[in-house]
Amino acid sequence: MSQKLQPPRGTRDFYPEDMRLRTWLFDHFRTVANAYGFEEVDAPVVEHEDLFTRKAGEEIVDQLYHFELHGRRLALRPEMTPSIARMVMGRAGSLRLPLRWFTVTQNWRYERMTRGRRREHYQWNMDVWGEPRVTAEAELIAALFSLLDRLGLAGGEVKVRVSSRSLLEASLRSSVLADRPETFPALCVAIDKLDKIGRDAVIDLLTDTGGQVRLPRPDAIRVVDWLSLADIDAAGEGLPADTGPRAELRELFDWLDAYGLADRVEFDASIVRGLAYYTGIVFEAFDAARSLRAICGGGRYDRLLETLGGPAVPAVGFGFGDIVILDLLEDLERVPELRRNLDAVVFAFGDAERSQAIRLAAALRSEGQAVELALANAKLKRALADADRAGARRVYLLGPDEVARGIAVVRDLETGDQSEHRLST
Ligand code: HAM
Repeated sequence: MSQKLQPPRGTRDFYPEDMRLRTWLFDHFRTVANAYGFEEVDAPVVEHEDLFTRKAGEEIVDQLYHFELHGRRLALRPEMTPSIARMVMGRAGSLRLPLRWFTVTQNWRYERMTRGRRREHYQWNMDVWGEPRVTAEAELIAALFSLLDRLGLAGGEVKVRVSSRSLLEASLRSSVLADRPETFPALCVAIDKLDKIGRDAVIDLLTDTGGQVRLPRPDAIRVVDWLSLADIDAAGEGLPADTGPRAELRELFDWLDAYGLADRVEFDASIVRGLAYYTGIVFEAFDAARSLRAICGGGRYDRLLETLGGPAVPAVGFGFGDIVILDLLEDLERVPELRRNLDAVVFAFGDAERSQAIRLAAALRSEGQAVELALANAKLKRALADADRAGARRVYLLGPDEVARGIAVVRDLETGDQSEHRLST
């Protein structure tokens, strides 16, 4: 096949059957968001590049699709959070907090492609702005599970793993980061790569004398060891049990218990997230078999607005991609069969019956039916086969005899039953 028939590598065409699946998924995103009282917002896919450029060494910054136009540096958005922050900042002061916003948007990242990683993907984002308590995290994680339930994944196929950057920061501030607390975001970005590049490579990053973190080797090993802790108390050793990040994590698990989600969430110190702006609780959802990358990820980012020059507004949210979840449904053989939504085909035998066919199609459409009007004067056999292939439920046939009698013959394409439909005069 000619190269020109393929879209650029990592981008996607959506043929009708792909589009049906995408619409099915997005409808579920929107239904759940509405059920939780979130309002939908949107922003341009092209933004000023500097909205996305940060210095902590995040992959996402190197993956920008960026260009210069009339002296302006622009970029396609790799994620939605900075745009949402910009919008919140634009109306800071007049927004009723806490506000709950959601988006369903296309994002662009020039990724090295592996399974579940494309250069174009869609994301459902749910964010709460202006609520410092973990009641917001609990509500977001509950919404996430409502979505999974609606997709038929209520049986333990997906687990949410939770940790806390503030817990990690607190335990490192008194030890390995005592002299250089400002390197914490870069440290998080480096250790988030553990799954991808392995322990030794992460230690190399943390100790790299030309890097941002520059830890002595024993300290780097200590940081990586911390990530394997699976218990809040062990991870928070030396920190007060009843205040700060440790208490916050406990409170979150208590609220999640109240939502009936205790057995679907667990503490996992290795969840750090690869974006620099997170400051508190962080979480990711994974398939139970851990055969795929994260289905979704999010967390608290209380200082993002300030770093963009705005006021301090606490915020928390998640992004849920469309690709990994569809991979999982496919692996589990749970991708739904979605037929085309076509109620009827109206078929006139010839131009003599066409005006009646046009009026009948209009009447059926005004009743809310999805109607395809046959445009050519085909043979009856061909018209029936076409209607069947299109997935129509019924076909309305208007030949000279029918029109003379003021009726159309209606054939049910599933049962083969025929009846008569009176044409309006
Ligand atoms: P993220 O972890 O970069 O977070 O992306 C969230 C989700 O989007 C991932 O878990 C994955 O499902 C999907 N995703 C990301 N990149 C790709 C890709 N190249 N191909 C396919 N799927 C992808 C964020 O973007 C944050 N802004 C989320 C957030 C919202 N945090 C707070 N609010």
